[in-house]
Amino acid sequence: MFAARAPLSTTKAGLYDEIVEQARGLLAGERDRIANAANFAALIWHALPAINWCGFYFFDGTELVVGPFQGKPACVRIAIGKGVCGTAAAMRETQVVKDVHAFPGHIACDAASRSEIVVPLIDGDQLLGVWDVDSPDVARFDGEDRAGMQRLCAIFMESLRG
Ligand code: SME
Repeated sequence: MFAARAPLSTTKAGLYDEIVEQARGLLAGERDRIANAANFAALIWHALPAINWCGFYFFDGTELVVGPFQGKPACVRIAIGKGVCGTAAAMRETQVVKDVHAFPGHIACDAASRSEIVVPLIDGDQLLGVWDVDSPDVARFDGEDRAGMQRLCAIFMESLRG
């Protein structure tokens, strides 16, 4: 059984180093997308402070559809280009939103969310979906979170290739 260690690091970069190691171990040897997405979301939910939702939206060929997540029930379908998730998917660029109330078109699934980071998941030139993390705190995510989340998402994407 996998046992997540309590974080030892006191720096954000060090915390991401630890979560990256745990993610590698957790996903090693399994290629199933739903299984790895579910464990990935659970790992990050328990490892990161000050978050109120984290999870996946997968592209079904038309729009984004919610996948494995932790937190309150969420909006099921998001059009490409809509909200923070749809913007990350359309631009294929990580979105770090310091105050979601100031983001035009933000989709409020949980009224408590105040800041958000969304990483697009790209396989070659194909959009697989996005990884979305919300926080009840304004400006919860910064450049270190962007780098850390992108490293974590790269491990998730690698795991699917086996
Ligand atoms: N806030 C997101 C929608 C997804 S939820 O936060 C879970 C958005 O604007 O795309």
